[in-house]
Amino acid sequence: MTTGLFDLAGRNALITGSSEGLGLAMAAGLGRAGACVILNGRDQSKLDRAVEKLKKENLSAIGFAFDVTDSQEVSRAVSEIEDQFGHIDILVNNVGRQRRGPLEKLTDQAWAEVIDVNLTGAFYVARAVVAGMIRRKSGKIINVCSLMSEVGRETTGSYAAAKGGLKMLTRAMTVEWAKYNIQINGIGPGYFLTEMTRPLTEDPKFEPWLTRRTPAGRWGDPAELTGPVVFLSSDASSFINGQILYVDGGILASL
Ligand code: GCO
Repeated sequence: MTTGLFDLAGRNALITGSSEGLGLAMAAGLGRAGACVILNGRDQSKLDRAVEKLKKENLSAIGFAFDVTDSQEVSRAVSEIEDQFGHIDILVNNVGRQRRGPLEKLTDQAWAEVIDVNLTGAFYVARAVVAGMIRRKSGKIINVCSLMSEVGRETTGSYAAAKGGLKMLTRAMTVEWAKYNIQINGIGPGYFLTEMTRPLTEDPKFEPWLTRRTPAGRWGDPAELTGPVVFLSSDASSFINGQILYVDGGILASL
């Protein structure tokens, strides 16, 4: 039966940046597929509300507040999670930060923040989690990249640099860790309406541009990321490695 291929029962999934937005949507999808989901964010009250939301759906969920850019905090949190759950089968490196502005005017702090949160944080969490996956010779790592792992848009230079780096980090992880039966892939969302992209809708020209530029002619719905993340977290993708699955309504296919 092919449905067993997508069954995540008995597996523990850590999703970073999952108090809201795409991370919470993907966590819900993994929970519905049977996984016990470990939500993460920096704000404990937001995290608690997100856990309650999933529990209302009878999903198995807990929250762990830690800052992915603090490597000591990450190591401590992952050890605590493994003490409580025994192991992390699936890691979704989702946490993201956007600081729009012309590159020539970008401050040191804005650049460092975007690189630290989107790229370095993903490395810190993967490094902490992969030790157990190597020991168990099993694991799934999904790095949430972006259509900006491939193309830029004015005012998003630091984000494109970070997400381009995350695409290559996904491949670097693959060449080093696939031999331990760990599959490392990426998901590249296009435009989804979230807190990160909401400011864009204040520009009356943006939506017409986006619907014209996207062959599907619309924004993505965060729920449309659940299939791809369950697929890459399941046995159905056991020989897929180092790939970025773009979920973008076709925007990268078109000039
Ligand atoms: C922008 C947007 C994009 C998207 C991202 C989603 O300013 O153009 O923030 O960067 O949010 O590509 O994957």
